Amino acid sequence: MVILVVGGGGREHAIIKKLKESKKTEKIYALPGNGGIAADAECVPIKATDIDGIVDFAKQNKVDFAVVAPDDPLVLGCVDRLEALGIPCFGPRKNAAIIEGSKVFSKNLMKKYGIPTAASETFSSAEKAIAYLKEAAYPTVIKADGLALGKGVVIAQSFEEAEAAVKEIMCDKVFGASGNEILIEEFLVGPEISVLAFADGKTVVPMVSSMDHKRAKDNDEGLNTGGMGTVAPNPYYTEEVAKECMEKIFLPTMAAMNAEGRPFSGCLYFGLMLTKNGPKVIEYNCRFGDPETQVVLPLLKSDLLEIMLAVSQGRLAEQTVEFKEGAACCVVLASDGYPKKYASGYEITLPNEGENEYVYIAGAKKEDGVLKTSGGRVLGAVKTACCLEKAIEGAYALAEKIHFENAYMRRDIGKRALAAKKQS
Ligand SMILES: Nc1ncnc2c1ncn2[C@@H]1O[C@H](COP(=O)(O)OP(=O)(O)O)[C@@H](O)[C@H]1O
Ligand SMILES: [Mg+2]
Repeated sequence: MVILVVGGGGREHAIIKKLKESKKTEKIYALPGNGGIAADAECVPIKATDIDGIVDFAKQNKVDFAVVAPDDPLVLGCVDRLEALGIPCFGPRKNAAIIEGSKVFSKNLMKKYGIPTAASETFSSAEKAIAYLKEAAYPTVIKADGLALGKGVVIAQSFEEAEAAVKEIMCDKVFGASGNEILIEEFLVGPEISVLAFADGKTVVPMVSSMDHKRAKDNDEGLNTGGMGTVAPNPYYTEEVAKECMEKIFLPTMAAMNAEGRPFSGCLYFGLMLTKNGPKVIEYNCRFGDPETQVVLPLLKSDLLEIMLAVSQGRLAEQTVEFKEGAACCVVLASDGYPKKYASGYEITLPNEGENEYVYIAGAKKEDGVLKTSGGRVLGAVKTACCLEKAIEGAYALAEKIHFENAYMRRDIGKRALAAKKQS
């Protein structure tokens, strides 16, 4: 089969490497891919948001199956457009991708169908929001409705901070139309858990759970980033918690989307917080998470292409989805300074991947045959092993063998997961 993968980060590299393991895969195009992905797929410089460009390319290149990985093209209706050409896709249609595309939509969905989430109010007027904030309890959480590159959520410690956030989002429109509406939400406390799930509108099959590390610096200090590392499984996601999530969150979400006439097909990402009152939904994503995918897919035993085809054909219930025992750790190597200003264009030297080692390239380009850094998050060093300790050790050992001038990594990926495991 000729497969088209839309996207060009570490997540897409992990998806592509896994798809390559399938016997059915003959060729993979990555749009746009990146300098590292070029080793595993033919990269074509068409942006993931250029839906017309993607559609034209698919028309001209006999694509049998498309995987749309990033949020923007999904929310823009890339799947609908490709399906209209007769190309089957892995990924939700526009009317289901809204579960991520609008936080107001997903909050209303959860309220309507009794899915546990933080209490919240929606505002489309900055004045009314600010009046409400005068009486609010702090910390309080302010969320822009639409996509905001992962920067649309502010945890305000005081009225002053909250007011400033509302003004930026709603008046200065720092996220454009994404800030036309906001949510003001109850601040929840507890460990966070990411669960990606395959879903075909009828069946939902959760993958191995994971834990992200969002802050730039050790001990969860510093600025919020796209994610500095991950481990899987997440030790807080016990069998008991998993069962509760299935009953109170996963199945009800599938049913709710169906009842709304928006069946969800693709990868549904549940961002959960394990509060004293049980698991609650922090957010939904309509796609694989990055860098969660980089620890989840290496643990997948079954054929990813077969699963994706089954999802797109609505026969997920008959498909085996098996994960390896053991654990995985991903350490992100970033350009020093990320998520603020950083320099790039430095040559990257990579070791050969050993057994159960994976290097997923996120921000790199090829120049005259030389791989050079081109982004904030440059790559992920991943190791799978029999246990979390060994996976962490292995991921750091692999990361140490990778070089570029201004490489920066957190030194404590997985530390909290290990501590939690020891407690239980
Ligand atoms: N109600 C809440 N209580 C406490 N923390 C929250 C709450 N909502 C979001 N957060 C924190 O903010 C982060 C980002 O929020 P999220 O809703 O996942 O938005 P996005 O990923 O689109 O930026 C979460 O991972 C979580 O750490
Ligand atoms: Mg999030």
